[in-house]
Amino acid sequence: MSRFGHFDDAAREYVITRLDTPLPWINYLGTEDFFGIVSNTGGGYAFFEDARLRRLTRFRYHAPGDGGGRFLYARDADTADVWCPTWQPARVDVEDYRCRHGLGYTVIGSVRNGVEVETRYFVPLGETLEVWRVRVTNRRSSDANLSLFAAVEFCLWDAWDDQTNFQRNLSTGEVDVRDGLILHTTEYRERRNHVAYFASSDRGGAFDTDRDAFLGTYRGWDRPEAVERGRCGGSIAHGWFPIGAHQVDLSLRPGEGRDVVFLLGYAENPPEGKFDGTGRVATERIRGTVDRFVDPAEADRALDRLRDHWVDLIGALRVSTPNEHVDRIVNVWNQYQCMVTFNLSRSASLFESGVGRGMGFRDSCQDVLGFVHLAPVRARERLLDLAATQLPSGGAYHQYQPLTKRGNDAIGSGFNDDPLWLILAVAAYAKETGDLGVLDEAVPYGSEPGTESPLLEHLWRAFGSTLERLGPHGLPLIGRADWNDCLNLNAFSTEPGESFQTVPQHEGGVAESVFIGAQFVLASEELARLAEVCGRPDDAVSAREAGERMAAAVGNHGWDGAWFRRAYDHSGEPVGSSTNDEGQIWIEPQGMCVMAGIGLEDGLAERALDAVAERLGTPHGLVLLDPPYARYRVELGEISSYPPGYKENGAVFSHTNPWVAIAETRLGRGDRALDHYLRINPSAREDRSDVHRCEPYVYAQMIAGPAAAAPGEAKNSWLTGSAAWNLVAISQWILGIRPEHEGLRIDPCLPADWEGFEAIRRFRGATYRIAVRKPLGVTGRISSITVDGRTLDGIVVPSAPAGATVTVEGTIST
Ligand code: BGC
Ligand code: NOJ
Repeated sequence: MSRFGHFDDAAREYVITRLDTPLPWINYLGTEDFFGIVSNTGGGYAFFEDARLRRLTRFRYHAPGDGGGRFLYARDADTADVWCPTWQPARVDVEDYRCRHGLGYTVIGSVRNGVEVETRYFVPLGETLEVWRVRVTNRRSSDANLSLFAAVEFCLWDAWDDQTNFQRNLSTGEVDVRDGLILHTTEYRERRNHVAYFASSDRGGAFDTDRDAFLGTYRGWDRPEAVERGRCGGSIAHGWFPIGAHQVDLSLRPGEGRDVVFLLGYAENPPEGKFDGTGRVATERIRGTVDRFVDPAEADRALDRLRDHWVDLIGALRVSTPNEHVDRIVNVWNQYQCMVTFNLSRSASLFESGVGRGMGFRDSCQDVLGFVHLAPVRARERLLDLAATQLPSGGAYHQYQPLTKRGNDAIGSGFNDDPLWLILAVAAYAKETGDLGVLDEAVPYGSEPGTESPLLEHLWRAFGSTLERLGPHGLPLIGRADWNDCLNLNAFSTEPGESFQTVPQHEGGVAESVFIGAQFVLASEELARLAEVCGRPDDAVSAREAGERMAAAVGNHGWDGAWFRRAYDHSGEPVGSSTNDEGQIWIEPQGMCVMAGIGLEDGLAERALDAVAERLGTPHGLVLLDPPYARYRVELGEISSYPPGYKENGAVFSHTNPWVAIAETRLGRGDRALDHYLRINPSAREDRSDVHRCEPYVYAQMIAGPAAAAPGEAKNSWLTGSAAWNLVAISQWILGIRPEHEGLRIDPCLPADWEGFEAIRRFRGATYRIAVRKPLGVTGRISSITVDGRTLDGIVVPSAPAGATVTVEGTIST
């Protein structure tokens, strides 16, 4: 049993009370354009829209103990004692340390020698700045004469270039200081119209902008010379390392508290109004914003608005079940994580460096499934952005760049599952909102104006692109990879360091994916339903026929005898078969086939899921495959490059576990479904935080499998498709509250030892108050539903007018 804090459910916060968290435990600031990641000791960085191209502050990944980032020091003028209220980077002892990570804000506080310093970090709604609102309280019985020092190290904008191109960069750095406002103006003189700034509520305080002047030579951020000395020197950076550092002196009587505000912001000027009359950066707009938010009362109001925003947002789904882990993860953290994955895709975390990846096509489509009920308007925009990068062939760029919204040539296309996710995501959006108009939106291909066709046509091209790429068994060709980026059947890579994602392919028209076959079947039904609701029954028939043919191919060539095979390799040999010596059974086709309804009638589904439980089940969740690959297999690619038990090679790859939970609900096995769900529920693992090591409030991409040295150890927290799929599994399939074109289906599949649950669900502007009751000891299925007291015919509650409140009572009888 080991915890490093606790959930404060009422406040919707996780409270960290121990400094020795196994890893930095982070949170995200920002909701729209300006974002930051913040660790429990104030580490991390900030950026505007693109973590690589508009990086505000520098960050050193995995510097021992955390790289710092939001530097805050306190100095006692009477004793020259120096410490960091966030503990890092000085690491001088503090008492009463706590970090409260909340929805879009983080509060870090501690006490040293009777001086309490607490800082709230957040990004106000609609603004492009980060507020550090500091409260210093003197709890001594004598006066305290203190100085606070706050500092950031500016990144020279492009975070990749910043850490590689020193011959240029160490000469380009520029700053400007205007009346206490530090401006980072590198490259503004010529091609940039944006600056970063660091401001203090104390306009007249001392400052530094040159890193070496502030730190002193041969010193680190743990003990800056200026802080030890108690005085910033007013340095101006010319090249080298520009920083922003402010000093605020405070004399506090016993019991007295004082508020100080620092702001880290990003601002753009119109090209024609870049400079003021004296040829310096025009600061009028910045000054207005700064003056507003350095006022502590305004900062507090902005934080209140932010809190209200989040509470309202996640109020779209609120459940009350017999299980506290379900409740707190669904009601707060999972929904929150879904918004974070929507905003950041896979770009910026402690595991994603912010320089490497754009917005993934399949990732972003799947993220939609998790947040569409929260932000349907933004989901619509995202879907149209994604579709606009689709290729005329129906295929898809694997990624696009958030600043330009164009497909990323460096990674290219040919991941043959990608386009099908668009069908699933658009269907989820249409079912959530009832907005069929989206299907008529004119959307270009490859971002080329003049190529527009209705979104619905894009979906048909996605569907068709699979049918145009079938292999010898009538199953879809895998291309570069399918959902499993590491199953590279056409790569044959032998060069050290070569990217499995971009290496030239030995495409032989043979390597096929059973997974994509099943995904196609799932998509065919969604496309058929869309066609029906659009009044095109003939199209629905052809989508279903194509789906049935594919389901037959999967049944005939994808079944291995006790589970579904994974693929056929470049030579036509099965992958994921009892005839293989390693990688005999893989999780993805079992989950996807059953979700698609394959094998439900002939018993194959049941056998496949039994095999999953038996072969892939561990105390930490279901591993991706078994046995893991112990040696590199050139014909399989990256999967076999990972040591056994890690990542796709036999870790618990969280994304796939909810597929199996959903599949179990299709068989009506509520106990199994919830069991699979709970094994990776982060709150349910909280008391094993010393083993799990990542944050107990969010999903991590992987948890090391039994073959690894440290089974149960999680990695790659936050930015993972696990967020969306776990929310879908628990809310839509286990609790069974599922949007359909016709209304809200109530079709739970619960464990035997529950007597029911209650939920509040916003759906198309109306509020549904749902209660489901059932006898103990059975799973059962809904036998009757009443809506506002009247018995419903069937189990799909028709959508009510916006603003209405609807009472839904469901009974499970056997
Ligand atoms: C990882 C995958 C990821 C892929 C794409 C691989 O190295 O193992 O999980 O999907 O990179 O970035
Ligand atoms: C993470 C990637 O972001 C995702 O696209 C992929 O499906 C999984 N890894 C599995 O490889």
